[in-house]
Amino acid sequence: MGICEGRVAIVTGAGRGVGKAYAVKLAAEGAKVIVNDLGGDAAGNGVDLSPAQEVVNEIRAAGGQAEVNGADVSDWTQSQQMIQQAIDSFGGLDILINNAGILRDRMMVNMTEEDWDLVIRVHLKGTFAPSHHAANYWRLESKAGRQRDARIINTSSGSGLFGNIGQTNYGAAKAGIASFSIILARELSRIGVTVNALAPRAQTRMTEGLREVTGEMLERRDPEWIAALVTFLASPAAKDITGRVFAEVWGFGYTVGDGWKHGPRATASRDAAGVEESLRHALAAAGYNAGIERDTFLNP
Ligand SMILES: NC(=O)c1ccc[n+]([C@@H]2O[C@H](COP(=O)([O-])OP(=O)(O)OC[C@H]3O[C@@H](n4cnc5c(N)ncnc54)[C@H](O)[C@@H]3O)[C@@H](O)[C@H]2O)c1
Repeated sequence: MGICEGRVAIVTGAGRGVGKAYAVKLAAEGAKVIVNDLGGDAAGNGVDLSPAQEVVNEIRAAGGQAEVNGADVSDWTQSQQMIQQAIDSFGGLDILINNAGILRDRMMVNMTEEDWDLVIRVHLKGTFAPSHHAANYWRLESKAGRQRDARIINTSSGSGLFGNIGQTNYGAAKAGIASFSIILARELSRIGVTVNALAPRAQTRMTEGLREVTGEMLERRDPEWIAALVTFLASPAAKDITGRVFAEVWGFGYTVGDGWKHGPRATASRDAAGVEESLRHALAAAGYNAGIERDTFLNP
């Protein structure tokens, strides 16, 4: 018996990369999987169902159950049909993994309106739309006395949590996904749905051009390390883990992000000229965001 035996999962963007590893691992642990992928290039151009079909073929060849879905996850109707496909094909839905993503990196001053809109759409709306339709299904099931032990697992990024230059569009979407997950965890707890997010680090199409990676570093960037955590979170054993953002997930470990905190407090003033002294004390006592050191920040 696998740890996800008999459960039904949707993995978006599962035609390659991290999502493929999730689909394969979930199926190996007994889940029936809808393998979603639009199949465009890394910048979100084009459509190709063959990567998703190959993953389905691989899962079936290993004795598992899987079906292809070619929805654009950021399309409201298509994402609804994707949820319905899981229900029609496999009799329900237990696990939604929002993983699909694209990149359109540019310095903000050069970023086009389309680069901004498409990245925000694919990541943020592509997380909201499937989550909305899945949660409505789970709400109806719960009302009918058939509450499911359900999961939403979303994909953030180190860029959203700590900041990467050239990725204001992507980082804003990924930080948004972290907040979305924390809020949604609170909204859905009463109908038995956990919601978590994680920031993967893996060698995939999305990252392969960034730096040369070899040896142990390459081995620890194998998506399987991430897939093991995701498959555990999807299993009944993780029923009590919700509202978490795993801030760095790879073969070197899984960090549990502990997020924004109130830092040092400056004294409030009704007089603008009275703000500075206490504010400077508070600033001196506070850490910098995203580990940016004082000197590099002021003298980049
Ligand atoms: N690889 C990393 O180190 C890393 C780091 C941080 C975050 N991430 C995130 O992890 C996720 C997976 O990334 P990856 O590295 O495997 O990239 P990838 O490019 O290998 O895979 C992403 C997949 O999403 C699919 N996709 C894109 N837009 C889609 C849409 N609208 N509808 C359906 N499918 C769509 C693509 O066709 C592709 O197969 C992404 O959300 C990415 O932002 C990855």
